[in-house]
Formats: sequence, structure tokens, C-alpha cells
Amino acid sequence: MLKLEGISKSYGKSKVKAVNDVNLEVKSGEIFGFLGPNGAGKTTTIKMIVGLLKPDEGKVFVDGVNVWEEPLKSKEKISYVPDNPEIYDRLKGIEYLNFIADMYGIEKDKRKEKIEYYSKLFNIENALWDIISSYSHGMKQKLVLTSALLNDPQLFILDEPMVGLDPKSSFNLKEIMRHMCDQGKTVFFSTHVMEVAEKLCDRIAIINNGRIIALGTMEELRSSAKEKESLENIFLELTEDE
Ligand SMILES: Nc1ncnc2c1ncn2[C@@H]1O[C@H](COP(=O)(O)OP(=O)(O)OP(=O)(O)O)[C@@H](O)[C@H]1O
Ligand SMILES: [Mg+2]
Repeated sequence: MLKLEGISKSYGKSKVKAVNDVNLEVKSGEIFGFLGPNGAGKTTTIKMIVGLLKPDEGKVFVDGVNVWEEPLKSKEKISYVPDNPEIYDRLKGIEYLNFIADMYGIEKDKRKEKIEYYSKLFNIENALWDIISSYSHGMKQKLVLTSALLNDPQLFILDEPMVGLDPKSSFNLKEIMRHMCDQGKTVFFSTHVMEVAEKLCDRIAIINNGRIIALGTMEELRSSAKEKESLENIFLELTEDE
């Protein structure tokens, strides 16, 4: 479903590669966790996947479609929740959702049903007629999540989605992610919460200094670690040596 072929990226004239020759394949039906210390290259990788940044080298394929060669075709398959919910502050919540639904060409009945369902689930249904600038950080995050779920994405990409969410919303989001994968969809997300990754993910990659330093199921990561330990310990052990 998602294939990264040797992608690299440096910012500006910097010779340091924020992402350095990353190869990765994520299958349909997988929940894939992307871990790594601050500045490791997670957001940069994600932005290349969703077509916001052009790789200096390498290619990204979404369901066989090259993201840079056929941007619209690939974007139809993706929903992306960025790490910072920067949205149009002067719109009302409902206007923003309708705008996104228009972009994806979602018909009226389906959009109404989805908006009702997800806004209730995230407990923002009463705020939809308020202007977004009056929302808290978490409410904005939940509005973006709702908008990202309107188009039933085949590939759901989230950059640190649990940040700022209350426990119930975080629980609901994890349920949604699991449910999507049960339906054969694919979820790719970055997180710093080891517990979430350990419990939720089918496979995990750890990136450090732009390079993938570990990849596999929890079992595989455990078997390659010095001692059979928690993901937190494996993470600390692997990222310390670099
Ligand atoms: N717009 C930018 N201009 C210049 N350098 C950048 C820019 N964005 C990121 N970088 C650099 O690229 C590297 C990777 O950053 P990135 O944001 O991908 O890390 P991250 O893994 O998402 O970190 P975090 O866990 O803090 O979100 C860092 O060294 C960072 O300083
Ligand atoms: Mg980041």
C-alpha cells in the first residue's frame, strides 16, 4: 500500500540529510508505528509521503501510484493529520468540514452521516457552529481528525496524533485506527508514546539521524535486542549508540 524507495531529504543548503536513504514497505491492513527521537526525521518523511515535500532522491508510491508523478490520484487515497492543527481560524467548524468534503467530492448524505458520527465520537458536535479560533488545541485536533475521516481513506497518515487529546478521544482514535485496519485499510503514524506503539502496531520502524535503525514486529525487535525487554528499553538502547 505504501512504498518508500530510497528517499532522502536535506533542508536548504544543508549537507546534513534530515532523511537519509529510507526504504520501507507497509502492507494493506497494517498499523505501522514510526518512532524516533526529536529531530530524527519522522515529520520530514511523512511530509514526503503525503506530497508536501519533494524528496531529493528516491520515490514514494501509494497503492502503486507515484506521489510526485500523479499527485491527485495518490492524494485521493490518503488522509493526513499533521502534528500541528493549523486550520482556517476564521471558519466555523462545520464550514471547514464542508470545505474538506467538497475537496474530496463527498456527497451530501454521506458527509452528513460521517460528520455527525465523528463529531459526536470526539465530542465536538456542539462546537461545530463556533468559529475555529475559539477552539482549544485539542478541539482543533479533533476537528482535523474528523475532516480526515470523511473520505474513508485507504491510507491514513498521522503525525503524533495522540498529542493534546484527552484520554477518551485518544481511546476512540485508537479504536478507529484498529477498525480501519480490520477493513483492510492502512494506518501509518508517528508517536513518542511507546505504550501506544507497543500495543497498537503490527510493525514498527525506529528512525534516528534520518536512517531506519530498526524495523519489524514487536517480537522481531525484541529478539534482536540484547535482552527481552519493553519497547521503551529497546528504543533507548538503539538510539543511544548513534
Ligand atoms: N523547515 C525546516 N528547515 C530546516 N531544517 C528543518 C526543517 N524541518 C526540519 N528540519 C530539520 O530536519 C531534521 C528532522 O526534523 P523532523 O521534523 O523531520 O524530525 P521529527 O522526527 O519529526 O522530530 P520531532 O519528534 O521533534 O517531531 C531536524 O534536524 C530538523 O532540525
Ligand atoms: Mg515531528
